[in-house]
Amino acid sequence: MTFVVTENCIKCKYTDCVEVCPVDCFHEGPNCLVIDPDECIDCTLCEPECPAQAIFAEDDLPADQQQFLALNADLAKQWPVITAKKDAPPDADDWNGKPDKLQELQR
Ligand code: SF4
Ligand code: F3S
Repeated sequence: MTFVVTENCIKCKYTDCVEVCPVDCFHEGPNCLVIDPDECIDCTLCEPECPAQAIFAEDDLPADQQQFLALNADLAKQWPVITAKKDAPPDADDWNGKPDKLQELQR
């Protein structure tokens, strides 16, 4: 099992999740984070920390977010590890909850 960052992280990228992960398995892209499924130990700590409710256990992924399982695995291999919280984008709150953000994903 792994935890998965889903669509609502895109353009929100609050990074509160990074602070609590004991195994540094978050990787940072231009406008969202992903979790490396090979490193995640299913500790559950990150899920309640995300102000955008963007993190789910693999088994609890909503039906319309299933594609993020493979996206996290693929992008974690390409993006660098992030280990410290940083400022969210200035318009993060405006994007929180917006639908169809996958088209905004920058790789
Ligand atoms: Fe890290 Fe735990 Fe979240 Fe997995 S569940 S990404 S190990 S904080
Ligand atoms: Fe993204 Fe939530 Fe972390 S918005 S960066 S998964 S705190």
